[in-house]
Amino acid sequence: MECTEGHVFDVARQGYVSLLTGKGTVHRSDTAAMVASRNAIFDAGLYAPIVAAVAQTCASSKVIVDAGGGPGQYLAAALDVAAEHSGTESGPIGIGLDLSKYCARSAAKRHPRAVSVVADLWAGLPLQDGVVDTVLSVFAPRNAAETARVLRPGGQWVIVTPRPAHLAEILAPMRMLAVGEAKAARIGHELAADFTSPQTTVVRAEVEFDETALLNVAAMGPAAFHRTHEELAAAAAALAAGGSVRARLDVNVTVAQRI
Ligand SMILES: C[S@@+](CC[C@H](N)C(=O)[O-])C[C@H]1O[C@@H](n2cnc3c(N)ncnc32)[C@H](O)[C@@H]1O
Repeated sequence: MECTEGHVFDVARQGYVSLLTGKGTVHRSDTAAMVASRNAIFDAGLYAPIVAAVAQTCASSKVIVDAGGGPGQYLAAALDVAAEHSGTESGPIGIGLDLSKYCARSAAKRHPRAVSVVADLWAGLPLQDGVVDTVLSVFAPRNAAETARVLRPGGQWVIVTPRPAHLAEILAPMRMLAVGEAKAARIGHELAADFTSPQTTVVRAEVEFDETALLNVAAMGPAAFHRTHEELAAAAAALAAGGSVRARLDVNVTVAQRI
């Protein structure tokens, strides 16, 4: 594939483009095992209320970027909702950006209207100024300056962050990492310069996690960097004790408009 300035990029056989340079990156990205666990959680419908809430925000978007999009479930659902509302033949397009090639590989397969790119958000978003209607940042690192640059005026930044009660019933027993309180406070600061009218909706649901789901929900996140698979599997077996555990999803979905 060649861009208008003559740069040539390899499209991997698995359908994604990598924009990482030979130097690589210092940031840690999701592994194949983490992506498999994340896909299993989504495929079981356990995060469906969050996926639906995010997708609804994209009803009138034509160009959607999922920054740190992981294996692509949110982008795929957003594209479906946007296509339903588009009423035009061309329909919406989606661009999934993630540092992990395993995520990009999965996201490339999730939706025919999604383009999947391996890129480091801290190296800048590989998009022109003011061309995007919606940037999604779902449980992902946020580059506020670059998000503001690529959004058109009136475009929206959709940010999903966990609230303190999110998965609270299972965090400690599954040896998962709690989210720092400071993270929530940071959003206001990130929005201050270039965004207006932030509206936050709280999405809450009770979900039943069996032993497999407990293992997957821990293994899809940062706990996988700090604990062995055996440690997480043992914790899941002890917590489920042959049954299942009810836990709360509890997240903020914040939508802010680009000035
Ligand atoms: C907690 S996961 C969330 C994934 C997805 N948004 C979801 O909720 O299913 C965070 C994602 O950010 C990606 N990531 C971490 N650092 C990144 C960076 N510097 N640039 C791009 N993606 C990054 C990881 O590979 C991972 O897929």
